[in-house]
Amino acid sequence: MEQSPYFFPRLPEISVNPDGELMLAGHPAHSLMERHGSPLVVILEDALRRNCQAWMHPAANGIRFRMYYASKALLTTGVAALMHQEGLGIDVVSMGEMATALAGGVPPEMVLMHGNAKDRAELEYAVEQRVGRIVIDNLEEIGRLAEVVQAAGIRQKVFVRVTPGIRPSTHRYVQTGQQDSKFGFNLEGGLAEQAVLQVLRHPELELVGLHCHIGSQVLETEPFVAAAGRMLEFYAHVQQELGAPLDELNLGGGIGIRYKDSDAQMDAASHMARLYEFVAKWCGEHGIDCPLICDEPGRSIIGETGVTLYTVQSTKRIEEVRNYASVDGGMTDNPRFALYEARHPVAPAMRMLDRPDQLWSVSGKCCETGDMLIHDVEMCELHAGDLLAFFSTGAYTWSMASNYNRVARPAVLLLGKDREGLLARRETVEDLLSLDSVPDWLR
Ligand SMILES: Cc1ncc(COP(=O)(O)O)c(C=O)c1O
Repeated sequence: MEQSPYFFPRLPEISVNPDGELMLAGHPAHSLMERHGSPLVVILEDALRRNCQAWMHPAANGIRFRMYYASKALLTTGVAALMHQEGLGIDVVSMGEMATALAGGVPPEMVLMHGNAKDRAELEYAVEQRVGRIVIDNLEEIGRLAEVVQAAGIRQKVFVRVTPGIRPSTHRYVQTGQQDSKFGFNLEGGLAEQAVLQVLRHPELELVGLHCHIGSQVLETEPFVAAAGRMLEFYAHVQQELGAPLDELNLGGGIGIRYKDSDAQMDAASHMARLYEFVAKWCGEHGIDCPLICDEPGRSIIGETGVTLYTVQSTKRIEEVRNYASVDGGMTDNPRFALYEARHPVAPAMRMLDRPDQLWSVSGKCCETGDMLIHDVEMCELHAGDLLAFFSTGAYTWSMASNYNRVARPAVLLLGKDREGLLARRETVEDLLSLDSVPDWLR
């Protein structure tokens, strides 16, 4: 069969039929648009479950592990339910994410709460719901959490988030492990040790582990190994010299996916196998018990399983400057290009076999020059009415969506071979108006 010249994730659920139409889990792209409208975010269920299973791959060396899905990548109640079915816990950073995880049936024990600016109400809710672990991120939070926990009359399992001083190679907006970061307690300078000592003064806080996160869309394992090394040294120090009976080490997720042909292919199972091997060896050499290893993948679980379908509404050719194709979505459903000039693979969904012989820039519908989905990508001739597929849009797109220009957010469809169901319905104008209120004096 003729090969499509377009780059897209080579998943069994994504194919091209002999007429050149994109097929998602065996469904023609146009039929999905007909049933669910445009634009549409499709999440490929089998691929998503396969990715979950890769992360849940049993560790060698008898290492104990627990996986949390980083829900910031994409969360709806249904996504939480699916993650729970696959045996993952959920990492949350806000009241909304916490409530969604719980509504999806995730047991509170399997919820882990992050955040560099948790307010009292969020802490109270987390403690009241008995979430499994709260990751302490700053000094102010220690006293605030201790008061909340004391008032509830329980002991709360906590982690301390450590900034290990590792700067992986990725966009600076998604680097988090370097000294100059808003997150966590820096190892260098002794703030992490100070935080641990302060937590240990509160008997209602049970320090069970340490956490770090070095960044997102990181396409190599070695920076994670380097971070694990620094974390293990500190872990052993906290256990042996500060007397805290730690048992868990969270290495924070962050591995990347292939947005372009030249990106390295990461594999969850081999990535974790390398980390497990490193941890087991380190612990053996230093005579400490292996901690339970936690990880919090987001993008690598759901990123490649998402495809966003748009309809071209207009085109504009500016001779020797640029060709624009404007679609019925944009930065409101995928702000990644506007934020970091992140490029997704894109292709004309009805003409996947046509030669890409022209440069196109795909613009969104908002009144903002920066509302672009991509600049200068090779595609065939485009016209109003064409369908465009943006690939690998499962992570950090819809979850970052906005209503700028009062644009309604698209539906999110969970699609299997023989079944489909909405994870989120399309917003309506009524939804948008429902939050408004008009002060008396304006009536
Ligand atoms: C604390 C924390 N954990 C996990 C993640 C998930 O990272 P990723 O989606 O890159 O796996 C993030 C993302 O930035 C994060 O900040």
